[in-house]
Amino acid sequence: MEQTRAGGDVLLSARDLTVQFPSQHGAVTAVDEVSFDIRAGEVISLVGESGCGKSTLGRAIIGLLPNSAKITGSLTYKGTELVGLDQGKLTQYRGTEMSMIFQEPMSSLNPVFRIGDQLAEAIQIRRARKRDKPGNRSVKEEVLEYLGQVKINDPGNVIDRYPHELSGGMRQRTMIAMSLAQRPSLLIADEPTTALDVTTQAQILSLMSELTREYDMSLLFITHDLGVAGMIASRIVVIYAGEIVEDSPVDGVFTETLHPYTKGLMASAPSAFKGGKRIEAIRGSMPNPAQTIVGCKFHERCPYVMDRCVKTKPRLLDHGKDRMVRCFLYDS
Ligand SMILES: Nc1ncnc2c1ncn2[C@@H]1O[C@H](COP(=O)(O)OP(=O)(O)OP(=O)(O)O)[C@@H](O)[C@H]1O
Ligand SMILES: [Mg+2]
Repeated sequence: MEQTRAGGDVLLSARDLTVQFPSQHGAVTAVDEVSFDIRAGEVISLVGESGCGKSTLGRAIIGLLPNSAKITGSLTYKGTELVGLDQGKLTQYRGTEMSMIFQEPMSSLNPVFRIGDQLAEAIQIRRARKRDKPGNRSVKEEVLEYLGQVKINDPGNVIDRYPHELSGGMRQRTMIAMSLAQRPSLLIADEPTTALDVTTQAQILSLMSELTREYDMSLLFITHDLGVAGMIASRIVVIYAGEIVEDSPVDGVFTETLHPYTKGLMASAPSAFKGGKRIEAIRGSMPNPAQTIVGCKFHERCPYVMDRCVKTKPRLLDHGKDRMVRCFLYDS
């Protein structure tokens, strides 16, 4: 594996990764030439507003896009190219190397099976696939342990319940437990705390940080909230209309925000809200993803727009200090 500046190995590498869906108005480009790396043990947050392509990118990585999706570019995991790999091999990766917590927990939990049985199945699959030696621990003991780890009260009672009998927050915690039970090297968590109250959200974030370190996992944490991203990640990748507009270590994003869109997200992030300051929405809305944009995709909403932004598309520029930004303001 390629050795990186930070010393960690590159686990996953996307290069010019593009995902398109067919539509009546032509192809919808949900992910547009995305290039970034995830290193072993790294926690990266993917941030952007609704519809910018976060879930599509997560699904592309784990190989769970609908058949209608057209994926181009390159996605390597531990040096193996995943784009174009047959479904059987992808399933192997999904089960042993990567796991995803989906945005809608009800769509991933089977309504007709008890929580304990679903978690037990995930553990049994992992034990078989990874040839884990469970020692003296029974599957039930492990089920209770994972439910305890995601701070579900009274796990002994919860294992006998069906998904619809749990609150939204408990269902999301169960999903986190199911993903952790697979002991993945890479966990993709798609808005896993959005449905939770602020206190529970903070607990889950710190739990996920702890487990990421404990199990030496990498985490791709998807959120629309820059404040939440800052709480968990060491690196933030900001996406706008399918494109990376800023990629930076977390400290840099908060001390010297570069991209005008990131600045807008900062001003409108609910969790970064500071007393006395109004939350400002970014004016306008994202362009239609079926439309071809000349120039910068953000130019219509950008308070710093210049002539060249309307005419020419900016590249993702190296800004030094391990930072990348797609904006002519930094193109000297
Ligand atoms: N299966 C699909 N078929 C057609 N278009 C799709 C499909 N899935 C996603 N899209 C489109 O791709 C774009 C990106 O959607 P995606 O769900 O990835 O965004 P997101 O950033 O996860 O949004 P949210 O924050 O609301 O979850 C949107 O324009 C969406 O309509
Ligand atoms: Mg989504």
